Amino acid sequence: MKQQLITNIRELHGVTDTVQPLRGAAMDCTGLISNAWLLIDDGRIAGFGTLDTVPEVDADICEIIDTHNAIVHPAFCDSHTHIIYAGSREGEFIDKINGLSYEEIARRGGGILNSADRLSEASEDELYESALRRLRQAAARGTGAIEIKSGYGLTLDSELKMLRVIGRLRKSMPEMAIRSTFLGAHAVGRAYKGRQSEYVDHVINDMLPRVAESNLADFVDVFCDEGFFTVEETERILKAAEKYGIRPKIHANELAISGGVQVGIAHGALSVDHLERIGDEEVALLSKSDTVATMLPGASFFLGMPYGPARMAVEAGCAVALASDWNPGSSPSGSMPMVMALGCIKMKLTPERALNAVTINGAAAMDLAKTHGSIAIGKTGSVVIYEPWVPSLAYIPYAYTEPTIAKVVLAGKTISSCPN
Ligand code: NIG
Ligand code: FE
Repeated sequence: MKQQLITNIRELHGVTDTVQPLRGAAMDCTGLISNAWLLIDDGRIAGFGTLDTVPEVDADICEIIDTHNAIVHPAFCDSHTHIIYAGSREGEFIDKINGLSYEEIARRGGGILNSADRLSEASEDELYESALRRLRQAAARGTGAIEIKSGYGLTLDSELKMLRVIGRLRKSMPEMAIRSTFLGAHAVGRAYKGRQSEYVDHVINDMLPRVAESNLADFVDVFCDEGFFTVEETERILKAAEKYGIRPKIHANELAISGGVQVGIAHGALSVDHLERIGDEEVALLSKSDTVATMLPGASFFLGMPYGPARMAVEAGCAVALASDWNPGSSPSGSMPMVMALGCIKMKLTPERALNAVTINGAAAMDLAKTHGSIAIGKTGSVVIYEPWVPSLAYIPYAYTEPTIAKVVLAGKTISSCPN
């Protein structure tokens, strides 16, 4: 139907018309209205208020969704994923159980190169079907906006194939906001083994121009870390992307203090992501910049790495976002309720800060804060509706495996929920 009236809401969180990420003390507030209603018209938020002001609606064009006294918040904004991939990597999962590290697996030709081999053999249709399945799972768990990276291609053809798949997903699921990122510099492609700097030239001279001309990428990313790409190589790629007006989002400081935060900020990155290993210098720089500090607790959990210092970063005034990093090697899960739970349990974020980190700040990390991430007139009508028996916002990350979501509405379209 054209309209949806979501009513009898006990707690409507995320009410703010900001189009900027929240930072520092502002992350403590979730913009709460108690006993509320929310009207969506043509996929956009058209009104909200307290129950004493519920509008009269025309039953012929308006679906009424009675939440029976439940909590509602803006749909999750997952600003960092790699959901286009072929096969899975549970063999490496066993290797890790038996003591190999992520770096050792990568050095043996596993890791990203393993996914690149499989992706080169997969057809575009196969990639599309499996990614669509993941996207539907994400939607059913409350995600309404998502960033998807290339980076398992590592050849011109395969990188373009991945980006085309993202384009097809966008057409198939218009209710989900999808941003695409070109990550040609995720690892050195096999054909360039031992010739890293030539591979960087290839990314700059052959891949980037085609990617730019195809209009398939919103952002550019580089895995700037020990054993992957250096600060100098990252800088060369970012400068080349700047000429096409493509903004960076950087993989930084996952494996070492890499300089990735500094190079990202210097080139106006929308976000620097991972940040498992950052010190006072990086936190101070981030607190003074517009770059969102995106942390990925699912990767820390899965790989047994340290967690990013999210609480310290919030208290220093940084804009902190949390994202899933959904990928087959370091975070095989796109559950944002789980990400929120890890943010609280392992990173000591309060539920309020964690909610802001997975909604408005995630939106800002994708340059989508004008349309997503909060409840404001004109923004996209995408919300998560919980079961009426969920007693409080804190219960959501606390009861982290309970299927607490009752319903998800994305751009006015009801999606059936699935367990967290
Ligand atoms: O964000 N760190 C680099 N890239 C991905 C992992 C990729 C993989 O292992 O396949 C990440 O964790
Ligand atoms: Fe990643």
